[in-house]
Amino acid sequence: MPVLYESRKRILVTGGAGFLGSHLVDRLLDQGHEILCVDNLFTGTKRNIDHLHHHPHFEFMRHDVCFPLYVEVDEIYNLACPASPVHYQRDPVQTTKTSVHGAINMLGLAKRLKCRILQASTSEVYGDPEVHPQPEDYWGRVNPTGLRSCYDEGKRCAETLFFDYRRQHGLTVKVARIFNTYGPRMLPADGRVVSNFIVAALRGEPITIYGDGGQTRSFCYVDDLVDGLMQLMASPADFTGPVNLGNPDEFTIWELADMVNRLTNNQGSARLAPLPPDDPRQRCPDIALARDKLGWQPRTSLKDGLNPTIAYFRELATSPTPA
Ligand SMILES: NC(=O)c1ccc[n+]([C@@H]2O[C@H](COP(=O)([O-])OP(=O)(O)OC[C@H]3O[C@@H](n4cnc5c(N)ncnc54)[C@H](O)[C@@H]3O)[C@@H](O)[C@H]2O)c1
Repeated sequence: MPVLYESRKRILVTGGAGFLGSHLVDRLLDQGHEILCVDNLFTGTKRNIDHLHHHPHFEFMRHDVCFPLYVEVDEIYNLACPASPVHYQRDPVQTTKTSVHGAINMLGLAKRLKCRILQASTSEVYGDPEVHPQPEDYWGRVNPTGLRSCYDEGKRCAETLFFDYRRQHGLTVKVARIFNTYGPRMLPADGRVVSNFIVAALRGEPITIYGDGGQTRSFCYVDDLVDGLMQLMASPADFTGPVNLGNPDEFTIWELADMVNRLTNNQGSARLAPLPPDDPRQRCPDIALARDKLGWQPRTSLKDGLNPTIAYFRELATSPTPA
């Protein structure tokens, strides 16, 4: 439903050419807002925003959030950061800089403009947790010196900055802790379990399962996640989060593999491989706070979300445009 001219906002989405960011941009444009999409295309692709280039309310700026940005906007969604281990471990120093310098630059912008700012944080701030599922007041168990630390500690420091800008400068901040989300526009080779399984199944190859496949994961469909981010941004100023956003339905890795094989008619079945050392046994959000404060919960079943995701990867495999 397009908004009235007086309530139309100019909204900055950093990381707007990425997987989640491009869906968020689509939805904000559908609501009639103007979008400034800022991205350095490290893991994002022009393909994700190609359909918007002639949209009168859409503007793309190639920019690295590690550097200051001087623009005029009414709201900021800060999503810029590579999200999959394959990508964030490729240049770990840049990953920490993106989280920390990016947060400082975007918070500085929000301070100057006196506007709301939302941070895309992550369930990885809980590290390798001793508590399942993780409520927001659990402080986590994070290794500060490991291979994942550039991402986990970078995101934790960004959260600290958000709350210090609120305490010190009175900014209206919102922090979403996002759990495993999937959907069209994920990168095919980013090492995430849903995309790995779909890509293998569409090639007719056996799906690789690490460990015994009994470990559980929860999967949130992208449309539900975007709803959560927008509801959080629109929530009363005194509700800052951090708030978990994810789907609490748990599936074993075997169940996911089986579903992907059935939906793609893959006869390739599955093969087992050794479990990576830091693979958690269970990852599941506690979304009581999001339910209570935002009235939000995911609506899309795994099967309903997998179908459009598989269709996307099928189309990508035959597309002449490189991902
Ligand atoms: N997808 C998930 O399951 C998930 C889970 C937890 C948190 N998150 C968070 O959500 C956000 C978006 O994740 P995603 O899955 O869409 O990942 P993505 O990699 O598809 O998107 C990240 C975007 O940020 C851009 N980017 C990276 N570094 C940048 C920089 N220095 N300056 C400007 N742009 C930069 C990339 O090019 C990309 O377009 C990230 O902050 C991520 O940490 C995602």
